[in-house]
Amino acid sequence: MLDLPHLDLPPLREAAGSVHLPGSKSISNRVLLLAGLADGVTEVRDLLDSDDTRVMLDALQALGCGLERDGPRLRVRGLGGRLQVHEADLFLGNAGTAMRPLTAALAVLAATQGGAFTLRGVPRMHERPIGDLVEALRPLGCTIDELGTPGYPPLRVRGQAGGRLALAAPIRVRGDVSSQFLTALLLALPLAAGDAPVVIEVQGELISKPYVEITLALLARFGIAVPREGWSRFTIPRGSRYRTPGVIHVEGDASSASYFVALGAIAATAAPLRIEGVGGDSIQGDIGFVDAARAMGAAVRAGPNWLEVRRGRWPLQAITLDCNAIPDAAMTLAVMALYAGGTTRLSGIASWRVKETDRIAAMAAELAKLGAEVQSGEDFIVVTPPATWRAATLATYDDHRMAMCLSLAAFNALAGARPAVPIRIEDPACVAKTFPDYFEALLGVVRADPAEVPVITVDGPSASGKGTLASALARRLGWHFLDSGAVYRATALAAVRAGVALDDEAALARTAAGLALHFDGERILLAAADVSDELRREDTGALASRVAALPAVRQALHALQLSFRRAPGLVADGRDMGTTIFPRAPLKVFLTASAAERARRRHKQLISKGIEANITDLLADIEARDARDRSRAASPLQAAEDALLLDNSQLDVDASVDVVLQWWRQRNPLDEGR
Ligand code: DC
Repeated sequence: MLDLPHLDLPPLREAAGSVHLPGSKSISNRVLLLAGLADGVTEVRDLLDSDDTRVMLDALQALGCGLERDGPRLRVRGLGGRLQVHEADLFLGNAGTAMRPLTAALAVLAATQGGAFTLRGVPRMHERPIGDLVEALRPLGCTIDELGTPGYPPLRVRGQAGGRLALAAPIRVRGDVSSQFLTALLLALPLAAGDAPVVIEVQGELISKPYVEITLALLARFGIAVPREGWSRFTIPRGSRYRTPGVIHVEGDASSASYFVALGAIAATAAPLRIEGVGGDSIQGDIGFVDAARAMGAAVRAGPNWLEVRRGRWPLQAITLDCNAIPDAAMTLAVMALYAGGTTRLSGIASWRVKETDRIAAMAAELAKLGAEVQSGEDFIVVTPPATWRAATLATYDDHRMAMCLSLAAFNALAGARPAVPIRIEDPACVAKTFPDYFEALLGVVRADPAEVPVITVDGPSASGKGTLASALARRLGWHFLDSGAVYRATALAAVRAGVALDDEAALARTAAGLALHFDGERILLAAADVSDELRREDTGALASRVAALPAVRQALHALQLSFRRAPGLVADGRDMGTTIFPRAPLKVFLTASAAERARRRHKQLISKGIEANITDLLADIEARDARDRSRAASPLQAAEDALLLDNSQLDVDASVDVVLQWWRQRNPLDEGR
């Protein structure tokens, strides 16, 4: 997961490949609650691991459910409808899918078995309405204290053992603010349906019906079939009792699929984009997004557990659509509208206003920053694509869907933006709510024009700390990292392994050209085997320095090094990065720590590893190596003319990183020279 204050995306131009979706949030939290209430042990597979599921798991644990993790499987020992714990203070973050059903379930259980439970969340959770649910539960005999603003969490639900619920009359709940209130009752009331059926009546037009369908489908998996009359009357049969299905799989998240369906429609021009985890037979209503995307021009093929998307018509077709059935995925349509040939009108989205943020206001504000013309009202948004695209810093409002949607604005080049503009996504980590690796998944299937991908080169003499500085910079920016020294070291190692003589320049160049080298976080793989430790050895370094002096080897490694220049950016470390490999890099840093300081650092490093060393000898070594490096014929050590010199003799790594980041801000169009 990218843990950065912001992520800058350069202009993106194409998408292809395949993504595997994380489990659905809506299904995950319903399954967890059902497993927690049911009799026996439920094995849950492919559960989403996210902020919202974590708070639900914490709550179940606090309530005494047994949780046992076994790799991708989770075993939940349910309460069998009997409270184990009669008092708890539950923190539910910003998870509506935990707050609403837990409130209902605990209110019902406390009213009959006795107990007191507090349910609270982050400040935004305390602004998300729950009054309609409270009003539905009170007439049954549930005691619910509103601890803050009436109608909003935090709440306390409590009751005495032996209490009885008034279930003879139908239970009325409003359906036009959030379908989660009905879902909460459907999940909770089977706990109370003893001698008689329980009837729920929905007042007002039910919104987000597909989410209620998910609830009904999962209730059925746990042994309870709920007949309904239209969308207004639901009957929980007498004697209902949750029974574990044994094993249950969580489908991939159909709302998360929407970003990749849109991506395919916008940018999969050469090959399709494949989405694994949901398909045509999904129980999630947001799969209906596929039809809306098709209407806008996406070419989608759907299989049982997969989708394949390509660009169909271009520009996309502007649409007018009532999005009541696909409220979450509809946000993605608002961003697709940036790529349409006209004005798109989305209505039936009043529920956007009570989600993680006021999504109508948020979307309108951010799309306008890009240059789009936006009108919005209580339950609609109208988007006309930008006439002139603007580079923009896009706020995400602690709303995962805002962050994921807005990332699609990086394809503005395809909509004719000239120049193509970069965009900044603030607080990208907010995607952790449902899709912690969203940006990694996105960046894994997109292509930018390398010339538009920013590069910072870090060159300098040996032992100047360039590797440490460069990798720290890459982490701070969320960029890729090229350790070009490792490329030469790997070439030397591969040559030795293949029995190639170290003076056979042509054979070495062939070895270099065929190098099967992969960087996997901190690990370096050669022909799929981890060689990180071997590469770092002094003798490998010595061999590398010999092969690195051969022009044919350097030439053979040129294209490989260029291929690291991928979105969102690259920090490249090594002596010729700013001169030969990336001569047009927008920022070049050349480290100039004194030989004496470098000798002292190397000394400290060796001593700390328990290796004896002598400063005078090390200094002599370093000076000799500097002289050799400067006079070498192939890529001698020299600063690029336009490099900024950084004498880090007196600076620690963090201070050096801060200096370079400041230089980068002065050049980055998204920082406007700050
Ligand atoms: O930085 P290092 O010690 O990992 O580099 C290994 C060898 O490769 C060293 O002799 C310098 C050489 N090298 C090079 O010639 N050009 C580069 N871009 C990086 C390293």
